[in-house]
Amino acid sequence: MAFLVETDGLTKRYGDRTVVDGLDLRIPAGCVYGFLGPNGSGKSTTMKMLLALVSPSAGEARVFGRPVNRDTRRGLLRDIGSLIESPPGYAHLTGRENMRIVQRLLDVPQTNVEDAVRTVRMHDQLDKRVREYSLGMKQRLGIAMALARRPRLLILDEPTNGLDPAGIEEMRDLLRRLADDGVTVMVSSHQLGEIDRTASVLGILGRGRLLFQGTRAELFSASTPDVVIECFEPERAASAVPDELAARFVDGRLVVPALDDRETRRLVDRLVAAGAGVYGVRRTEQSLEDLFMDLTAGGGL
Ligand SMILES: Nc1ncnc2c1ncn2[C@@H]1O[C@H](COP(=O)(O)OP(=O)(O)OP(=O)(O)O)[C@@H](O)[C@H]1O
Ligand SMILES: [Mg+2]
Repeated sequence: MAFLVETDGLTKRYGDRTVVDGLDLRIPAGCVYGFLGPNGSGKSTTMKMLLALVSPSAGEARVFGRPVNRDTRRGLLRDIGSLIESPPGYAHLTGRENMRIVQRLLDVPQTNVEDAVRTVRMHDQLDKRVREYSLGMKQRLGIAMALARRPRLLILDEPTNGLDPAGIEEMRDLLRRLADDGVTVMVSSHQLGEIDRTASVLGILGRGRLLFQGTRAELFSASTPDVVIECFEPERAASAVPDELAARFVDGRLVVPALDDRETRRLVDRLVAAGAGVYGVRRTEQSLEDLFMDLTAGGGL
């Protein structure tokens, strides 16, 4: 099975609002899949549909090749660990007591729990009450609970939310180690920088639609960076640039969006012919943040 998670036209409507709109997700086995999108774009709703917590209005989800529905839910959840919204756990109990409850509920051996706690590096903190934990510790305990069943797939909804930079770095490190151990991880975030380097495949959501899915390299190659043209005679340049290129002047430089190589050549020829005194042509370095903003603001590349 090439894809651990596959959805076809997965859709959720609340009343007349479509909050998840025809998603075709493909999550390869063994990857960290970064599920990115601004607030309200439909990440949590999608994850809940994958866990059969919310039923789709249309379309289908398959996990481990099996359709997700109320009948298959129990069986599927044996192999899926999840952390959706706030971290679980009884605040008045210690980490150890919480883990014992999980162990009994899941009916798994003690070693599962011990390994899970060690994986998230919480073995020294187990005798504290959960209410005394920092947010990062609560998140890690939540992940340990999700790992106790030794899942093949881990679904984490914004595990970096509210963490400080050190906490975020620890979370990244944890996700990488999990993937190295063969667990497929789907992790959501509304802040791209938090997981982009950890995720090997990205799915970018905007207003319920999948705007991009693929590797970081594919994301960069699918976009056309701005062309920046430097010239000694900006007024002449301005009068020679066709309006439809939506060019703008920034600090005396001409910035033109989304030009391919041929269009760039045509423009430079025009500028030279107009006597603009062109002395520099380059492409801007686009950060992944810029791409993400372009994508989610404009509704597509
Ligand atoms: N039970 C519900 N009833 C009605 N509307 C809902 C329900 N659950 C979610 N929504 C709406 O669906 C949209 C998507 O919500 P969702 O929680 O999936 O977004 P999200 O991408 O997880 O956002 P965030 O980054 O804020 O967590 C939102 O506009 C939300 O108000
Ligand atoms: Mg959410």
